[in-house]
Amino acid sequence: MIIKNGKVFYKGVIVKKNIVVEGGKIVSFGKGKGESFDASGMVVIPGVIDVHVHFREPGATQKEDFLSGSRAAASGGVTTVIDMPNTSPPTTTVETLEQKRAIAKKSMVNYGFYFGATETNMDEIRKAKNIAGIKVFMGSSTGDLLVTDNTALNAIFACGRPVVVHAEDEAIIKKNAEKYKNEHDPIVHTRIRSNECAEAAVRKAIELAGRNKTKLHILHASTKQEMELIAAAKESVDLSCEATPHHLFLTANDMKKLGNFARMNPPLRSQQDVDALWNGIKNGTIDLVATDHAPHLPWEKDVDYWKAPSGVPGVETSLPLLLNAVNSNRLSLQQLVRLTSETPARRFCIRGKGMIEKGMDADLTVVDLKKEKTIKNSDIVSKCGWTPFNGFKVKGAVIATVVGGQLAYEKGEFGEARGAEIKYGN
Ligand code: DOR
Ligand code: ZN
Repeated sequence: MIIKNGKVFYKGVIVKKNIVVEGGKIVSFGKGKGESFDASGMVVIPGVIDVHVHFREPGATQKEDFLSGSRAAASGGVTTVIDMPNTSPPTTTVETLEQKRAIAKKSMVNYGFYFGATETNMDEIRKAKNIAGIKVFMGSSTGDLLVTDNTALNAIFACGRPVVVHAEDEAIIKKNAEKYKNEHDPIVHTRIRSNECAEAAVRKAIELAGRNKTKLHILHASTKQEMELIAAAKESVDLSCEATPHHLFLTANDMKKLGNFARMNPPLRSQQDVDALWNGIKNGTIDLVATDHAPHLPWEKDVDYWKAPSGVPGVETSLPLLLNAVNSNRLSLQQLVRLTSETPARRFCIRGKGMIEKGMDADLTVVDLKKEKTIKNSDIVSKCGWTPFNGFKVKGAVIATVVGGQLAYEKGEFGEARGAEIKYGN
């Protein structure tokens, strides 16, 4: 395959080039034989890597499965995802990991897995092969994965694997849930899972990582306090963090209109917190953007606050929102590529990905920076069929997605592409 005449993001700048692909890899930038894709007027960026998705399989395939989730990803310009372990059964044993491996073979995009920590599965953690890291829920969320015992936490952080944390403090969540138990406005979510709740858990995770020399990634950082803690700790700890599109583009105010449809863990925050995140992008405290794509069905959300699940979809709207941010000068294209591809690949040591270069995998996202679109529930590819960004007008759209040199998505149609499991290390 040859991607012809595109404006290619190459070594940090845009250059007009052809990209020649053979055997799933980029082989040259000159002339080549084979099927060609005309990218005239389009920008070609390294395929987006989303290191945080919940594709729900096995166990909740009414919400999503590896095929529907990966189609949603492809339509959003995402060529690689890393799936979370809070499925049913949870991915906390070698056996459930191997089951998920078999399930994911149908994925249209490349994929990897986190292994879930419990308070008692250290032996399984040690045996798990080819994983992105160990996921620790320090506070409870969707599913029943939770680790609060200090001895267990210490053993996990000391096991020599990268650790990714859902950092919310379980004791604070419980205390606040009791305090607000008679309130039913979904906004109470922001008070139960307060800024202090995130701050306390991040502080503890950083302390554990420092003591055990752990490579630590903080998932969905959402507050000003976390930005301050993380920026300071980066001087001495092997630490990275991500921000989600919902924490970057929505505030707690949006819960007024969206109610439980804007309920997720951690919750939406104040404008001041959102500003702190954007500042974190500017100064490098935020390393990457990941979506925490967490689909739930509309009828599950359309109930009393206390009965609704937490989580919002995001894998197909993230890149358009970020391209729009480029068009409104909130972000440079260089920053976008760093946040969505280069740094995810580097931080998680994903082989062969994260840049457009000879010898690298042909995972490419073709975008039209000029195209304007309105994000609509009716266009959502995910099985959930809705988005918290319904009605958002964005400038910048995904035109095509190439996975391993095969077309996965082009202008509303899906190709035959199949992803492969990612490998780690250099
Ligand atoms: O809002 C969330 N939803 N946060 C999580 O930690 C889990 C996720 C889910 O799986 O629904
Ligand atoms: Zn998540």
